[in-house]
Parts: sequence; C-alpha cells; structure tokens
Amino acid sequence: MRVLILGNGAREHALTWKFSKSKRISALFVAPGNAGTGEIATNLPDIRPTSAEEVIRACRTHRVDLVFVGPEDPLASGIVDALQREKIPVIGPPAKSAQLEASKAFAKSFMVRNRVPTAEHWIFTSYTDLEGFLTSTSKRVILKKSGLAAGKGVVESGDLKELLQFARHTLREDQLVVEEYLEGFETSIFVVCDGTSYRILPPCMDYKKAYDGNKGPNTGGMGSICPVPSVTTSLMNRIQTEVVNPTMDGLGKEGLLYQGILYLGLMITREGPKVLEYNVRFGDPETQVLLPLLENDMGNLAEAIVTGGLPELPGKYPEKTATGVVIAAPGYPGTYPKGLTVNLNLPEGNGSTLIFHAATQRDSKGSLQTNGGRCFTVVGIGKDIFEASAKAYEAVPKVQFEGAWYRKDIGKLLPQPLD
Ligand code: AMP
Ligand code: GLY
Repeated sequence: MRVLILGNGAREHALTWKFSKSKRISALFVAPGNAGTGEIATNLPDIRPTSAEEVIRACRTHRVDLVFVGPEDPLASGIVDALQREKIPVIGPPAKSAQLEASKAFAKSFMVRNRVPTAEHWIFTSYTDLEGFLTSTSKRVILKKSGLAAGKGVVESGDLKELLQFARHTLREDQLVVEEYLEGFETSIFVVCDGTSYRILPPCMDYKKAYDGNKGPNTGGMGSICPVPSVTTSLMNRIQTEVVNPTMDGLGKEGLLYQGILYLGLMITREGPKVLEYNVRFGDPETQVLLPLLENDMGNLAEAIVTGGLPELPGKYPEKTATGVVIAAPGYPGTYPKGLTVNLNLPEGNGSTLIFHAATQRDSKGSLQTNGGRCFTVVGIGKDIFEASAKAYEAVPKVQFEGAWYRKDIGKLLPQPLD
C-alpha cells in the first residue's frame, strides 16, 4: 500500500512512524512534512494540504493508494470530497461532516437534536443582544467563536469588559456561542469509524494550559497521557452509553457518518460526561501517546477503515502507559522566534522513549532547526503513568535549543474525579 499523510505536526510524525512500522506499506509520503517525517518517509514540501488540486496531482504522480488527513483545515475545506470524486481512498470526513468541528453552532444543535449531554448554550449574531444577555445573567459562562480558531477561539473570564471585547471582535466575522461553564476534568476520546461500525480507543488527556499547575494561557497542548488513570472502566462504559452511542446514532440518522476519526472533547462532571466539542480528526498531542500503545498494524487499521472491516480487526486495551511532553519555542503561545538550531542527543530506538518532531526543518547545510511554536513531543512509555512520565522526563533535557521550555508536571498532575 502506498500512503500519503497530509500535515506537518508531531501528530503527523506519529502517524508516519506508526505507518512506517506496518508490514503493509510499500511507500510513504508526507505533505508537506517536517524534518522528523523526512527521516522515515518522503516529504512533499511543495504540496499544500488545503489545495485539492495539488494533493490529487501528488496522488497521481506517486501512485498513492490511500490518503490520511491529519489536520482540520483541509477537512473543513473539502479535501475528502475532492479525493472521493477522483476515487482515491481517504481517511477523514467530507466537508458536510467536518462542520461538527468547523462550526460549534452546528455541533451544538446536533447535540441537542440527538440528546447528547453537553453544556447549556445560547447562540448570538448581534452584539447588543449578547451584551444584554451577559449583563443580566448570573451564570458563569464561557464564550466561543463558532468557526475554526486553532485553539484560540475560547474565552473564560470574570471580567465583563474582556468578554465583551472578545465578543465584539468575534461577531465581526462569525457567530458566537455562549456556554454554561462546566466543572470537572477533561478527557479526549477517539472513535475510529469505518462508515458503519466504530471502535473506541483508549482515553487520552491533553494538558492545554501553558504552565505548571494548569496555569496561564491556553495552548495547542503542552503534553498528553494515555490511558488516563481516573477514566476507569465503569466511566468508560458511561462514556460509551451516554455520549458515544447517541453521537454515532445521530451521525447515522443524519447521514453524517464517515470513514475516519471522531474526537470527543469531554468534561467529566458530577452529573456524568458532557461533550465540550467534537473534532473530526486525531488530536495533537494525544496521537503521540495513543498510537505507540495501539497494537494494530497501521496498514491493517487504515484498510479496515476504508473497507468497512473494523469488526474483524482485533482490538486490545493497552498494557502500557505513555506520557508525552511538548517542548516549545521561547515566547510560545505568544510570538516566538523560528530557525533556532537544535541539538538532539537521544539514544536511538530504545523502545521506551520516542521523539516526534512538530515544527522542524533542515537548513541548506542539513542542520536541524525549529520552525514554529510547539517543536517536539518527547514520549515515554512504561508499565504505569509513573514509569512513563519518568522515561519522558529523562529524555526531555536531551532536546536542546535556545530558550526551549516545557511543563514539568505532565503525567504527574492528574485529574481527581469529582465526588
Ligand atoms: P473547545 O474549543 O470548545 O474545546 O474549548 C477549549 C477549552 O476551553 C476546552 O478544552 C476546555 O478547557 C475549555 N472549555 C470549553 N468549554 C467549556 C465549558 N463549557 N466549561 C468549562 N470549560 C470549557
Ligand atoms: N488536543 C487538542 C486538539 O487536537 O485539538
């Protein structure tokens, strides 16, 4: 099988790594890729994932049998529809289903129609109406831009002025979703779907805040763990019956089921699991800890997704745990420099630590450089969360560049279930 992966983050490096271990793969391409994917696959740096024309051309040139779409932007702009028209097998939702992620207003009305537990919400298009609502409500709320915002579309604040400023800015170009603030702990659930049947993967958690103790601004994710100790078997059963089943039934009823990944961002509240958001792809940095624990051959899994073969695929709960620590550029999630020279002193292939590149590139002399805000995810694998985190943190200091920083409490600060 000749596979093309779209994207250039650490999620895509993890996907490429998992495909590279498959016995089914004869050629592996990544567009545009990064310095890490370039070591195990052929990068196609000139192909933009959002350009259907360029992606289709690359598929023809390289005789690609299957495309795996990593990030949300090409999904929202219809890359899957374009590839399906050309009869190129692809993992990901068509644009119609990608609205579950690309429009929070669409996702919320889907949840209400299908009785999926979620926060109470109100949708606004008028600033005056919103201002009236915010000044009269006593509820603690959170404001969200409806459309894609790369993790920057949500604001939670006790300061009315700050909320109104965000609202004024957002309403110029989009709808605004106001949500009841939910207390609890978050978990990310990934469901693999072959268009008819589906399978729930082990639970993950993303550390979204920039600094230790879950302090500071939101980021794209500073670390991740899989599985999550506080997501017990009985909680997973509740997640399946109360959240995943009604979601998948609703997708089926509304003609929105697709061959790909559905990501449910959940808040585990006192009343049970509630959906904060749907994404229609794998998460970053969750993929970096999830895929190393999956025993399935990635080629077999990909084939099962596009042929409706998931029920026949063996599936086993992982025996190990993984912790992923993100190493970021100085200044991230604000402004940051690019082009910092990187020294990697990791021992090769010891099996219990992995390093996935996010934004990296090689300069003309072949030296490794940073090229973005989140630069690497270092993953430790162990028999439990303590061993996995210890392994990750042993390796982290070996990734060196000027101003590199990371959270020190990934896999150590663990959510406590509410009683
Ligand atoms: P979203 O893009 O909807 O996932 O929101 C980003 C982050 O904001 C989530 O991961 C949560 O940390 C937080 N968040 C979103 N909605 C809520 C809510 N209703 N109550 C509390 N926190 C929320
Ligand atoms: N881990 C958050 C995301 O992938 O959107």
